[in-house]
Amino acid sequence: MEKIDIKKVVSEMTLEEKIHFVVGVGMLDHKDNPKGKVYGAAGETLEIERLGIPRVVFADGPAGLRIYPEREGDSKTYHATAFPVETMLASTWNKEILSEVGKAMGEEAREYGVDVLLAPAVNIHRNPLCGRNFEYYSEDPLLSGEMAASFVEGVQSQGIAACIKHFVANEQETNRMTVDTIVSERALREIYLKPFEIVIEKARPWTVMSSYNRLNGFYTSQSRWLLIKVLREEWGFEGFAMTDWFGGDNAAEQIKAANDLIMPGKSYQVFSHRNSEADEIRQALESKELSEEELDERVKSILRVLINTPAFQGFEYSDSPDLNAHAKVSYRAGSEGAVLLKNEEALPLSSETPFAVFGTGQIETIRGGTGSGETHPKYSINLIDGIIERNLNADKQVAEFYRNAIRAFREKNYKITHGQWNEEIRPQLPENLFSIEELDKVSERNDAALVVISRISGEGKDRKLEKGDYCLTDDEIELSRGVSEVFRKKGKKTIAVLNVGSPIEIESWRNYFDAIVLVWQPGQESGRILADVICGAVNPSGKLPTTFPKEYSDVPSSSFPGEPGDDPTVVVYDEGIYVGYRYFDTFGVEPSFEFGFGLSYTSFDYNELSIERKAGNLVISFTVKNTGAAAGKEVAQLYVRAPRVRIDKPYQVLKGFQKTRLLEPGETQRLEISLAIRDLGSFDGYRWVVEEGQYELVVGSSSRDIRLAGRIRL
Ligand code: BGC
Repeated sequence: MEKIDIKKVVSEMTLEEKIHFVVGVGMLDHKDNPKGKVYGAAGETLEIERLGIPRVVFADGPAGLRIYPEREGDSKTYHATAFPVETMLASTWNKEILSEVGKAMGEEAREYGVDVLLAPAVNIHRNPLCGRNFEYYSEDPLLSGEMAASFVEGVQSQGIAACIKHFVANEQETNRMTVDTIVSERALREIYLKPFEIVIEKARPWTVMSSYNRLNGFYTSQSRWLLIKVLREEWGFEGFAMTDWFGGDNAAEQIKAANDLIMPGKSYQVFSHRNSEADEIRQALESKELSEEELDERVKSILRVLINTPAFQGFEYSDSPDLNAHAKVSYRAGSEGAVLLKNEEALPLSSETPFAVFGTGQIETIRGGTGSGETHPKYSINLIDGIIERNLNADKQVAEFYRNAIRAFREKNYKITHGQWNEEIRPQLPENLFSIEELDKVSERNDAALVVISRISGEGKDRKLEKGDYCLTDDEIELSRGVSEVFRKKGKKTIAVLNVGSPIEIESWRNYFDAIVLVWQPGQESGRILADVICGAVNPSGKLPTTFPKEYSDVPSSSFPGEPGDDPTVVVYDEGIYVGYRYFDTFGVEPSFEFGFGLSYTSFDYNELSIERKAGNLVISFTVKNTGAAAGKEVAQLYVRAPRVRIDKPYQVLKGFQKTRLLEPGETQRLEISLAIRDLGSFDGYRWVVEEGQYELVVGSSSRDIRLAGRIRL
């Protein structure tokens, strides 16, 4: 296709065309708007045929491409792969896998006619109750940024624009469209902006999505400080910025703040108190509050990116991405993201060991969360079907009992209904389906028991500190206690399987189980992943990207979700930089499971630490040896304990990590982590400062399992 001369095109656009080009074409596939080019996509930009500008399509999201799988009067299907949720992807600590997932999602976008993929999301796990934590990677900005950068590289290698979102300080769903997040510049720079900064530096994403919330008084989509000074002037971002869907309250301010594109457009359809954004921009131009030059800049900024998209390139998409290949990528990512939290000689199960699986989540497995991060895959293998497919010796009678019981419940008064975005609303099923006597009978014929605990959450709502959500229900406790009592009495093992998107309370019930496997929300291959982990076909190598606290009250972000009460207008991030392990480690609070934690079926030794200074960098190298009997992978983590001279600092901060290849028993690998000395700095309120003094560099298997330590004076 002929290369577009942007300057010329803009000079030929009418004022009305420009105004409408910086505003999306509206919420698609709704009754008052014509069908989108790709059914079920999230938005489009204006087509101007006369100037060779095509419709450009935007679609979610972090766990898979979100488009509708079926179209009226069309027998073909348009399914997209459901990958593990972002938190599980981060649990892999494996950049190559993230890049493969990005590549697969990018290919699906391209082959379905989508140009801009609205992912990844890099908000921080500030509080375990945020309803969208599953869509975010981690409580740590470095891990989030590195994972996202690899994902973005993968997506963009397919000629598709990635979009990092939600910029910034959007760590809750309660009143997300209006709440004012009050946060110090230090916490912003070190924690919340950091992942965006890393991605922009490393992967040059084509687009950024500003968030819904206000930041220190101003909507992020209207903040010149954020979108011009920080994003462009400091970080050199060259793509374009868009609003989150219907975000902010002043279109002219958005344009002035270099929020180039207002999505999805025509918000008067939704918020009747507002004019359309186009009207607002027109009025601002008339009153000279906004100049046509400013508008031109926004149009150019959008076009500079969009001319590289498949739509502009005239790409003829196939509507048949390679779903089989991508299913394998999804499986691989999930099998590296499962985290073994506890194992007292319970796992792996041999292929002969007879075991029973309890819990309704074995059938109604949660593959991912709801809202814009939901997915529509061709199939989804639930936990029990995966176990049966892999020929493990699971109790068929118990499985059949669950199948029938759930069918009967759902037929009666436990119906799944659909809310917005087709999201499933599932009244919780009862879990106390077996009496002690019945459990006892099952334990006669089995040598182990699995209990599945599942949770779902999603966009628009935060989770609750209640039974059935953050805490187990009485039923779930009763089941766990009962299983523990009857199986352990006979010397048989009990295993909990956590199918959740974010931490839940574990401390009060963990002792009922000999093993705990965290499979997160693993996407369409859920059951296969769990089966392979419990039988040892896959040696777990996932590590926690987020702390599991003992008590919710241990979490430092006690201001979540803000004041006043249920209808907060303000949320103050008063814990500052002390988020996640930065808090737990500095203030000596013991978690249930710490950041970076995860067990394996083998063991690893760390040796021969070397720290070298090369120009402005530190190069840390060491060897990891598999000292156990099974092949496995290890995630080695580098933490730095910086001197506290003038600036207060966390006890330690993650500064690098490396995952080994699959090491056979006895095999050794030398790993190297390189880091820039300037990245050891703290933000003192004005600038980054690397304080003079002794720095301790420690390498470990988790944040609390440190194996090697060295020092360097800077
Ligand atoms: C979400 C975004 C999403 C957009 C488009 C919004 O509600 O916050 O993450 O990309 O919708 O679906």
